[in-house]
This record gives sequence, C-alpha cells and structure tokens, in this order.
Amino acid sequence: MSDEVLLRATDVVKSFTSRGKKLGARSLNTAVNGVSLEVKRGETLGIVGESGCGKSTLARCLVQLIPVTSGSVEFNGVELVGLSRRELRPHRREMQLVFQDPYASLNPRRTVGDIVADPMRINKMAGEREILERVRDLFVTVGLDPASVHRYPHEFSGGQRQRIGIARSLSLNPSLVVADEPVSALDVSVQAQVLNLMADLQDQLHLTYLFIAHDLGVVRHVSDRVGVMYLGEIVELGDAEALYQAPMHPYTEALLSVVPELNDTDAPRRERILISGDVPDPSDRPTGCSFHPRCPAATDICQREAPAFVELKPGRFVACHHPRNVDE
Ligand SMILES: Nc1ncnc2c1ncn2[C@@H]1O[C@H](COP(=O)(O)OP(=O)(O)OP(=O)(O)O)[C@@H](O)[C@H]1O
Ligand SMILES: [Mg+2]
Repeated sequence: MSDEVLLRATDVVKSFTSRGKKLGARSLNTAVNGVSLEVKRGETLGIVGESGCGKSTLARCLVQLIPVTSGSVEFNGVELVGLSRRELRPHRREMQLVFQDPYASLNPRRTVGDIVADPMRINKMAGEREILERVRDLFVTVGLDPASVHRYPHEFSGGQRQRIGIARSLSLNPSLVVADEPVSALDVSVQAQVLNLMADLQDQLHLTYLFIAHDLGVVRHVSDRVGVMYLGEIVELGDAEALYQAPMHPYTEALLSVVPELNDTDAPRRERILISGDVPDPSDRPTGCSFHPRCPAATDICQREAPAFVELKPGRFVACHHPRNVDE
C-alpha cells in the first residue's frame, strides 16, 4: 500500500425525496449523510454496516453512477462532481463496480461473453477480434472455462456468475474496484473461493479495492482499513487489526461482540452486546448522535449534539461523545 490517495470523498451527501405516507407529503431520505474517506492506492478499504445504512448508495455516489446531492469526490486528484458525462467517461472507466446480486446484475438475454465484452465495445477499446481474445483471457483470469463464452447467465451457478461480474469489472483495466457485497449472495464455501480470487487479482493487477459488506468477519480478512457505517454516516474508521482489537465506537464494539469467529478461544473474550431495535428510517433521523437511541453508553449530550468525526489516535477516526479503549 502506498500513501498516495486514489479516491477522496469529502462530506458526501445523498438524499432521495419520496412521497410520504400522508397524501401529498414529501419526505427527505438522507441515505448518505456527510461521508468523508480516503482510499489509498493499492489498499483495500472495507466498509461495513447493517442493511439499509447506505452502503450501496455510497458506492454508487463514489463511482458517479448517481449524482451526489452535495460534497466532493476526487479521483486521481481530479474533482468528479460537476463534470459532464463526457468529461466523466475516462475516469469512470478507471473505477468499476461489482454488484451485490450476481443474479440480477447480469442481463439474462446476453451471452456471458457479450456481457464481459460490452464495456470494451462501448468504449471502443479495440477491434472485435482483439476484444474477443481479451474476453477469453479474462475468463481464464477469473477461473472460468473460456469455451463457455457463448452460454447465458442462467446456465451458471451464483459463484460462477460473480466471477463473470468480476471479469466484466476488469475488462477496462480499472485501477479501483468497488465491490458491493460481492459474496453476500453466495454459499460460505463459495464465498472463500471468490474472496481468494479477488485477493489474487489485487496482487496481479495492482488493484485498489473498496470492499462493502454487512459482515465484519468477511471484511476483516480482506481489509487493510475498515470504516463502520451507521445510518448514512461513517462512525469509526481505522486500521483493521487495531479496530478489531480495540473498537472505540460503541456501535463497532457491539457489532464485533456478535461475530462468532472473532470470539473464539484465542481472541480476548468479549461480552455479547445486544443492540436493540433496527436501524432507524433515514427520513426520520434521531437528534444529536444518530446512534443514541440504541447506544448502551448514551447520555444527555448524545441526544442533543451530533459528535464530530475526529482523529482520536493516528489514523483512527471516531464520531462519539464517549469513545471506548482510548488509552489502549
Ligand atoms: N433510488 C432510491 N430511491 C429512494 N430511496 C433509496 C434509493 N436507493 C436507496 N434508497 C434508500 O436509501 C437507504 C440506504 O439504502 P442502501 O441500498 O444504500 O443501503 P445498503 O446499506 O446498501 O443496504 P443493504 O445491506 O440491504 O444492501 C434506504 O433507506 C433506501 O430505502
Ligand atoms: Mg446494498
């Protein structure tokens, strides 16, 4: 990993307006509420959080698949927010998304060879012969039989489909791959194969990853650094090992306490911390700290004031009035 910042997001906000329950009422759903993060060239930054906390929306904003409501996204030192579609094109090529659902994200009416070839055709990357050759190479790279390029997505298993999705994401030689829960839909045994493949590809092709998951166990194995997301905000971010050893945000602490494999014999014993209730509706955000209604450590100030996201230790950012493990 280098210190060079490949992607820098500053105060990214994404709101959706939707019709409210009352007739004619409109509500504002702020799915991403002021996220700032940096991804360094060559690293894997993991992002974890419960369902609905805004992970996919953040991913889409970062790769400019949807426009941000406000904030800045710099890629390779270039501000992307405000660029026209045409100006964006060369940068979009460099940043590719692997989708959450390998069943829904592949067009059922195109052969898998075409699915992988299409981005190259659209970008006029080479002549058709060369493109078809590269498709076969990409199939080999992701561990699929190049003879299967003429088949259709439904003829493949979930794990194979996710390999096709990965091959497609690599077709334009990106430097950044944003993987949105790439293994959540897969069986545990297949998950490991796909994760190993992604690790090998990272080494071979010098890729930078933003890896999204709702499972802290998965993220730990693949990430250099981890950001924990709650209700559209990153509440803690830091070096993966340090964060797992000594979480500082009560939400991180609670999430970690219920991951079985992190609490086996050689790990320090943790008490299970149950967080009550669900993630609140982002259109009805609590006052002060968004986590306070579910937080075991909450006091009056948490209800009144949103905590700032500050660097409490070198490289460790936390948004909490009562951080844990400050002295460790
Ligand atoms: N296109 C959209 N229009 C309106 N609301 C949306 C849209 N996309 C997402 N949202 C809302 O934004 C919030 C965050 O959704 P998002 O899909 O980003 O969460 P997530 O963390 O990826 O969840 P999951 O783990 O289930 O994939 C949700 O409240 C969702 O309803
Ligand atoms: Mg999602």
